[in-house]
Amino acid sequence: MTVYFKQDEPDTSNRLDGMKQGVLGKSLPRVEGLAKVTGTAPYAAEYPVDNCAEGVLVTSTITRGEVVSIDRTSVLSMPGVIAVVDDEKMSTRAAQGTANEAPMQGPRQVCYWGQPIALVVAETFEQARDAAKHLKVEYREDAAAPLDPHAVEPEEQEDETVHQGDLAHAMAEAPHSVDVTITTKGHASAAMEPHAAIAEWDGDKLTVHASLQMPNYNITELADALDMEEDNIRLISRFVGGGFGSKLGLSEEVVAAALAAKQIERPVRVVQSRQQVFQTVMRRSETTQRLRFAADGEGRLTGFGHEALVSNLPGETFAEPALQSSHFIYGGENRELMLKVARIHLMTAGSVRAPGEAVGMPALESAMDVLAEKVGIDPVELRLRNIPERDPEKDLPFSSHKLAECLKQGAEAFGWQKGVRKPRQRREGEWWIGTGMASASRSHSIAEAKARVTLKADGTALVETDMTDIGTGTYTILAQIAGEMLGLQPDQVLVELGDTRHPRGPGSGGSWGASSIGSAVYIACNAIREELAEKAGTSEDRLELADGRTAAGQTLADLLQGKDISQEGHYEPGAIEDDFTAAGFGAFFAQVRVNHYTGETRVDRMLGAFGFGRVLNASTARSQCIGGITWSIGLALTEALEFDPRDGHLVNCDLAEYHVPVHRDVPDLDVLLVEERDGAASQIQAKGIGELGMCGGAAAIGNAIYNACGARLFDYPMTPDRVL
Ligand code: MOS
Repeated sequence: MTVYFKQDEPDTSNRLDGMKQGVLGKSLPRVEGLAKVTGTAPYAAEYPVDNCAEGVLVTSTITRGEVVSIDRTSVLSMPGVIAVVDDEKMSTRAAQGTANEAPMQGPRQVCYWGQPIALVVAETFEQARDAAKHLKVEYREDAAAPLDPHAVEPEEQEDETVHQGDLAHAMAEAPHSVDVTITTKGHASAAMEPHAAIAEWDGDKLTVHASLQMPNYNITELADALDMEEDNIRLISRFVGGGFGSKLGLSEEVVAAALAAKQIERPVRVVQSRQQVFQTVMRRSETTQRLRFAADGEGRLTGFGHEALVSNLPGETFAEPALQSSHFIYGGENRELMLKVARIHLMTAGSVRAPGEAVGMPALESAMDVLAEKVGIDPVELRLRNIPERDPEKDLPFSSHKLAECLKQGAEAFGWQKGVRKPRQRREGEWWIGTGMASASRSHSIAEAKARVTLKADGTALVETDMTDIGTGTYTILAQIAGEMLGLQPDQVLVELGDTRHPRGPGSGGSWGASSIGSAVYIACNAIREELAEKAGTSEDRLELADGRTAAGQTLADLLQGKDISQEGHYEPGAIEDDFTAAGFGAFFAQVRVNHYTGETRVDRMLGAFGFGRVLNASTARSQCIGGITWSIGLALTEALEFDPRDGHLVNCDLAEYHVPVHRDVPDLDVLLVEERDGAASQIQAKGIGELGMCGGAAAIGNAIYNACGARLFDYPMTPDRVL
């Protein structure tokens, strides 16, 4: 049976708090942790497949133009080479992430340096790689390929534009105003597991093991790309070594592996090299953001302006939504918001962890620090004074809102010294020491989700969905939700994910995973409880289950009498989405030291306080926050994609040259989970957490640099050359 539930109203009758098992919200270690650390959890490229050939992608060495010809004979006689696949379907970028569905302008059209154009297949990886290097490709090059977002006339994203009141007038009249321009560089997802796929055909049936965030959606993309029925495709993605947006959409290795396997009638594996992942999959757009504030004598905003320039390839629909939280986080009746996209020929810009707020919030929160200084008040106090009662643009209530609590509790836990701040107050030897803070905000998303839950006659349970666990803890939280509802220990609940044979989940993206799929599991479990209650001769609301028994002592096995109960939960967000503005909120506090001679910044300690609805597992939630704060450190200090201005090729395309923070860069981080219930956000009263932890954190570091040494910087990352 399928139980369908569309959420049109806030959830107020939630069962989860009344359950007796007591496992939900607890710090449960990951159920798949042992398999991962012992190397027995297979990732996409690791499935044993007999007679598998190896494919290596060939990528474009021009920026813009056309592939005139590919000379297969240049490599077909090389050792081990089986085939060169240059099917037109491969050079069609069918989709790059949910928001990037624009196809290339035509077959063989090259739009950026590094674009995949062919696949060479050989008996071994080394043979394929060697042949890929020798493949002769003839191009016709287009002379005009703009690469600088400031050198072209950008397009306005009209649905992001807000003109409310008169900002210029408000600024002219205001006792305090700020007008600053802040830049951020491009970023890479830099997931640990490279993109990989193994494709195998059985007649007209295709099975692909791949590293994907959203098999539920990727199956549609693949069916479109190959012009076949979804029913004939099975995608498997049981373990994913990080995605951070780069695996939301299918990339070329999946389509190429499928095409090649068909052509040579053998399974084919394609693993992108680290450099290819960097150069071909996805970048976060660089941004140039202008922030304008008008404030009264007490620092209350009367005007708020945020304009951002981002970039993408011509025809792509995705535009880094840098203003997302700016629409509602602070008040101010005179408002100007505008997002513009420059069309340039760098690799596709798409979703990288926390698209939008990841770069919008640091810019906004850097500017807020300038305002606090101008008004002469404590920066925490400035934020508190500007939290609006309702969404200032849509005039909607917030579904839940813990920004003030996060600011206050975070300040207390960090030991924030209140008051007006002055830079260059503390020095220890060569080091200037300072503190800074910033608000966090990330708009909440939720998605349709299906999951099947089976309570087995032996008193264990099975959860099945094609939802993924990209390292976030999905396996564990679903075992906790089902365990809580059915009175089982989490280890009595087997969770099977990442297989499109199972009911369609929401995929992992936009931080909607846990709340969406958790709601589907919850709905299925509720239906199972109804059936159990009937068997136990009571009503569902009176059915108490714990440790496999009812309160009256009946065991689940007694109630089930040898028969499984299976229910499919189908959750869909409904009208509720239009009634509230929903977001996760938080606050970051940082202490840094800046070297007087080298300009090097070290983060001494950092604390993040976050409110994101129900906590499903305290330790996986905390880990998400720690990961987010770690990304903030990279964004603030080291991470930047560098493109060659001549041809737009990405220069720093590996982890030696693109600097993500390593252990030495990351001190012990403190996380404060400010628990709340948000019945409008999802059926299990949870919001997203995965991305919130990085939305604004870089500004806490930037503001601390200013407080430490007096260097007021508006360009991220704040590398030593900028600090000095
Ligand atoms: Mo996220 S960048 O939506 O995977």
